[in-house]
Amino acid sequence: MPLSRSIAGRVAIVTGAASGMGKATAELFGREGAHVAVTDLTLEGCEAVASALRAEGHSAAAFALDVADHDAIRSTVQQIAERFGGIDILVNNAGISSFSPLDAGDEYDLIWDRSLAVMLTGQQRMVRACLPWLRKSDAARIVNIASTEGLGATPGDTPYVAAKTGVTGLTRGLAVDLGKEGITVNCICPGPIRTAMTDALPEADKETFARRRTALRRYGEAEEVAHMTLSLVLPAASFITGAVIPVDGGLMARNA
Ligand code: NAI
Repeated sequence: MPLSRSIAGRVAIVTGAASGMGKATAELFGREGAHVAVTDLTLEGCEAVASALRAEGHSAAAFALDVADHDAIRSTVQQIAERFGGIDILVNNAGISSFSPLDAGDEYDLIWDRSLAVMLTGQQRMVRACLPWLRKSDAARIVNIASTEGLGATPGDTPYVAAKTGVTGLTRGLAVDLGKEGITVNCICPGPIRTAMTDALPEADKETFARRRTALRRYGEAEEVAHMTLSLVLPAASFITGAVIPVDGGLMARNA
């Protein structure tokens, strides 16, 4: 039997799926025939994405979920598994932008704690909550979204850099621990991508940055990251685990 390049009928959870890359991933998975649990902070945001997918004839349901809330993770994951009859795929995507200078005092501590809670601790808690069902899947796949800030560092961004670097380590640790059960765990490091997170940056600054720093001389689109995520969750992606993959237009490859 050849390895399958389809996720049709698989159950996928995407966190932070009301916007940006999470939304693009939920939409792509839905159109590929997966049952998609669209999760984010507000039910309205999730429902907008899920109902649009259902209107196209796809399978999707909305669930409010703050990934910094441990109890909510446990109960929502349980609800999702009951609703769709299992879990095959987890995409840990939720994130916040968290620039903060080192001398910002208490404000720095608040941003540090929130960054790690949402972008690092939330990912491992999601994985642990999903494990009972992932273990029953014949093609269990986890993708963690980090950043090129997990491979290098922009000044003034230490909480985000620490959280995203943590995600690359978490990915390797989980891949090694779960490999014997056939569960793959990989990490994507997006570069500059047009989403709500980067909306506030002036267009001229974006263009200058992309021209100077990326090989492709442009910002990426959320859908371009979603396609790498899809590639990693295919049943056919069965021998890829512990990988940390930039989807960055060549940002990390370019020196000058
Ligand atoms: P976005 O702002 O469009 O989407 C992020 C989503 O995460 C939002 O819908 C937000 O409500 C949700 N979220 C925030 N805190 C949450 C929480 N506690 N629980 C559940 N959901 C929560 O941003 P974007 O760009 O799509 O971000 C997706 C991921 O990609 C994030 O992890 C981000 O750090 C990462 N990333 C983004 C880059 C970019 O250039 N846009 C570059 C590299 C990484």
